[in-house]
Amino acid sequence: MEIITDIHSLRSRLKSEHYVVFVPTMGNLHEGHLSLIRIAKQKSGCLVASIFVNRLQFGQNEDFDKYPRTLVDDLKLLENYGANIVFVPTEKDIYPVQQEFIIEPLPLANILEGEFRPGFFRGVTTLVLKLFNIVRPQLVLFGKKDYQQLCIMREMVHQLNLSIEIGEGETVRASDGLALSSRNRFLNNEERIEAAHLFKVLSEIKEAIESGEQNFRKLQDIAKETLNNRGWDIDYISVRKIHTLEIAKCHDQKLVVLGAAKLGTTRLIDNLEITVRK
Ligand code: PAJ
Repeated sequence: MEIITDIHSLRSRLKSEHYVVFVPTMGNLHEGHLSLIRIAKQKSGCLVASIFVNRLQFGQNEDFDKYPRTLVDDLKLLENYGANIVFVPTEKDIYPVQQEFIIEPLPLANILEGEFRPGFFRGVTTLVLKLFNIVRPQLVLFGKKDYQQLCIMREMVHQLNLSIEIGEGETVRASDGLALSSRNRFLNNEERIEAAHLFKVLSEIKEAIESGEQNFRKLQDIAKETLNNRGWDIDYISVRKIHTLEIAKCHDQKLVVLGAAKLGTTRLIDNLEITVRK
């Protein structure tokens, strides 16, 4: 496995590659990230992973400084999982001057996560487009864990005519249902046990809708009340149409329920797709 830290070397190394599969990450790798690496490995091509904690996507009061950085362990994992190249740029490489050209994403970026983390998707899309230009991949993999991010990436590629295929990976969970996330390490023992309840209330909404319940508002309210009573601070629990993430109507058949809530100081997000059979 080659570890490359500068853009110029990466570009010249990749010149001879015909098919590049790319998995962008912020590091602190866990089974969720590694599941994407595993999918990438099934394609015959050059597998490039990147590790870069992107300041541009963190709000002023968010956890950029606290974000876990575990490069040595990450590199070992990537090596074991068969990555060919790991791109680990410095902040100076990616942002040598103040980034003033910024991607202005679509309205989809202003709802849900975008409402509670203003500027978040501007930071994500600007960085990811820069990475796409540097790596020039044919296929890029994103996880459904960050469902809205995946939807926005698909739209960005489509609307900006990028000739890149977007692939997706299912959310990897702990045995109690909690979606794996780098931020789970901020949970204390008690919070870690409680954390599975976000998955639990989303699962209850999914089951109810798949069994014929059409009053989404009622289901959302029950879920919010349950979490509230258990001490969570909720940003949203919302049933949406897949892809566009518009508010779901009762005749829609392909839905996703998304949730974001804080337990203590740790903010967790999760989602589940729902299929209504008529
Ligand atoms: P990061 O949170 O490190 O996630 C990197 C990729 O791993 C994303 O596509 C994310 O959806 C996926 N992932 C994380 N947890 C997962 C889980 N439990 N199951 C399946 N996939 C999971 O997402 C980012 O970084 C950044 O926003 C990035 C796209 C790298 C831009 O900075």
